[in-house]
Amino acid sequence: MKYAITLLPGDGIGPEVTESMVRVVDHATGGVIEWERVLAGSTAVQHGMTPLPQEALDSIRRNRIAIKGPLQTPVGGGWRSVNVSLRQELDLYACVRPVKSMPGQTRSRYEDVDLIVIRENTEGLYSGREHQVVDGVVEALKIVTESASRRINRFSFEYARNQGRKRLTIVHKASVTPLSDGLFLDCARHTARDYPFLQVDYLPLDNLAMELVQDPTRFDMLVMGNLDGDVVSDLCAGLVGGLGMVPGANIGDGHAVFEAVHGTAPDIAGQGLANPIALILSAELMLRHIGEAKAAQRVRGAVEALLREGTHVTRDLGGRAGTEELTEALLRLIDREEAA
Ligand code: NAI
Repeated sequence: MKYAITLLPGDGIGPEVTESMVRVVDHATGGVIEWERVLAGSTAVQHGMTPLPQEALDSIRRNRIAIKGPLQTPVGGGWRSVNVSLRQELDLYACVRPVKSMPGQTRSRYEDVDLIVIRENTEGLYSGREHQVVDGVVEALKIVTESASRRINRFSFEYARNQGRKRLTIVHKASVTPLSDGLFLDCARHTARDYPFLQVDYLPLDNLAMELVQDPTRFDMLVMGNLDGDVVSDLCAGLVGGLGMVPGANIGDGHAVFEAVHGTAPDIAGQGLANPIALILSAELMLRHIGEAKAAQRVRGAVEALLREGTHVTRDLGGRAGTEELTEALLRLIDREEAA
């Protein structure tokens, strides 16, 4: 079976990590994917296009599955975040980020973190509704709707059930925003009634921050709003080896777009130093999503073996390898695991 999948190489380190990912996935699947490459972000603007060209949207709508490198958002103007637009345009309402300790990560404080962060992806403060009220006063609107809150909670409880997870922690700040976070909480409580076999607790965001740093291993699944989820997933990346390690998926009812948690890393872009593992693990999620579980396992096995051996890892993981050397090592490991 052949799959057409949209590939957005992205900006900064995007082209480097996406090329690495493509080589690994092609090797693990025997080339069953036809990659449809489309531009977006500042790379598209440099080619005289808009930051989110219609061609990119059309390609994702047609193929239903995409994987992307990070896209740059200019600070203080230029254009609105293409990531946010993409999630809203395609209604990719659930952002799923599995955070798991990997072998050989001596720089991480914890060895057995295994949690999933689920973030509402379409509203909250990311609705982008900001305006100046009078000189010196700006208002930013945090939009929370019952329909989106019910939808993300239903998705999360179903995801927990399908993944065999036992415990969900619903994160909020309802003491300060009782209407908006209160609505989110009410929807979670309402959904929880249909899942009596799951343990559900409700934790204020500030408590979560402290408890995650003290002992992340006590958490199983975290469910929260857009901004909270953005911050908490970077925090969680720091618990398992950094931004180069954590994959992600943006899922809607019709489409799914896979991407790493990290950004364009302008400080190392174009130098062949980027760690492609987060995107390669995002591809693993994508392969599972399309039903290619064996290929997904090949990818995962090779990444784990690479990290266990520790000889071909990038600088962010304490090694000396570049993106290319790490990629070559992964291809050899896929062959080795196959032969074993
Ligand atoms: P960043 O994630 O790009 O970089 C933060 C730090 O982590 C840097 O020191 C960088 O070198 C390092 N890092 C990140 N990924 C790495 C990797 N794969 N290998 C080795 N080191 C890595 O975050 P920053 O600097 O806040 O954002 C840069 C740009 O990326 C901004 O324009 C931002 O809007 C965009 N961004 C895009 C995202 C996306 O497309 N999903 C997500 C986050 C940021």
